[in-house]
Amino acid sequence: MKQIVITKYGDTDVLKIQESKDPKPSVGEVLIKVEAIGINFADILARKGLYPDAPKPPCVVGYEVSGTIESVGQDADSSKVGQSVLALTRFNGYSDKVCVSEKNVFNIPASLDFEKAAAIPVNYLTAYQLICVMGGLKKGESVLIHNAGGGVGLAALDIALHLEATIYGTSSAGKHSFLMERGLNHPIDYRNQDFLAGIMGLTGGKGVELVIDPIGGKNWKKSYRALRSTGRLGLFGVSTVTESTMGRIFQYIKLIAQMPWYNPLGLMNANKSVFGVNLGHMWNERNKISGWMQEILKGVEDGWVRPHVDRTFPFEQAGEAHAYIEARKNIGKIVLVTGEGMKHEKG
Ligand SMILES: NC(=O)c1ccc[n+]([C@@H]2O[C@H](COP(=O)([O-])OP(=O)(O)OC[C@H]3O[C@@H](n4cnc5c(N)ncnc54)[C@H](OP(=O)(O)O)[C@@H]3O)[C@@H](O)[C@H]2O)c1
Repeated sequence: MKQIVITKYGDTDVLKIQESKDPKPSVGEVLIKVEAIGINFADILARKGLYPDAPKPPCVVGYEVSGTIESVGQDADSSKVGQSVLALTRFNGYSDKVCVSEKNVFNIPASLDFEKAAAIPVNYLTAYQLICVMGGLKKGESVLIHNAGGGVGLAALDIALHLEATIYGTSSAGKHSFLMERGLNHPIDYRNQDFLAGIMGLTGGKGVELVIDPIGGKNWKKSYRALRSTGRLGLFGVSTVTESTMGRIFQYIKLIAQMPWYNPLGLMNANKSVFGVNLGHMWNERNKISGWMQEILKGVEDGWVRPHVDRTFPFEQAGEAHAYIEARKNIGKIVLVTGEGMKHEKG
């Protein structure tokens, strides 16, 4: 099999293709011949040595794939051989063959190709946990989705739209018209405008009931201030950490220094709450994940879950794919494809 290995921390040139023996499925596992691999921002953080959850290099990252089940291990359901599936992989996803527990594998709805299927697991599960499970967004409430043009952002938009909430979103200005076509009510160009002033202006000074924030650092302080009474703030990432040119240790120190500290009495008196989401730490909650995924896949069939693949890159061009995301060019998902004939440009 072929894998893309992070050989050491660094720029995109540390990503190298390596060949090794095909993996064999263990008890309860299936072997997937991979067609498409979802790229996540966490993979970029891992490559730069800014993602503590990732294995140390040399390592293979990748949280999600789609493909065909080629064989099954002992006690796994052999009738699944030949099925087209999407799967959660806790690392090792950047491979053309991968073994995963059959519990982390789901059939692909007929309307989705492999590329769109690989765009579903991490983005939609994270957004579902943020918006529905912990954020408790309801019809008639309002939500601010930071990084609305990213993979999780677009998934959150689909879900909030389905719940009939009023939706505010921050992104680069070039992404606004696309986001409005997808249903965003109020775009905010957070790179040229103070988003807090923007959201307060748009809501008549009230703020919103839910903010989901993957930016981190001082952004979290402002997001908290954007909440109205009964508001909930979901923290789920620290994208800002990649912006610093300082060494890794100093990047962490700066990030921690900028973080807010929430006072329980302050939360009580403000009628606000703050929660965190890390899907990678939900690995021991398979029943919950499986239930959320069933809802999401039903959403595909019902038409309100609309995974959007901005661009695919050939397997060999993982570095270019990372660079594309780091340059903020993507709207929605970037996917690596292993086979010929599946690549398409933007759209
Ligand atoms: N906790 C969890 O379970 C979980 C799960 C998935 C993702 N996440 C986090 O959620 C965030 C988004 O992930 P994603 O996979 O949806 O992202 P993505 O699709 O790769 O989003 C990339 C976009 O992020 C925006 N961005 C903001 N700060 C950036 C920066 N410093 N450098 C480059 N781009 C930046 C840019 O949009 P603009 O042009 O609009 O600025 C860029 O186009 C990341 O922080 C990620 O780690 C967390």
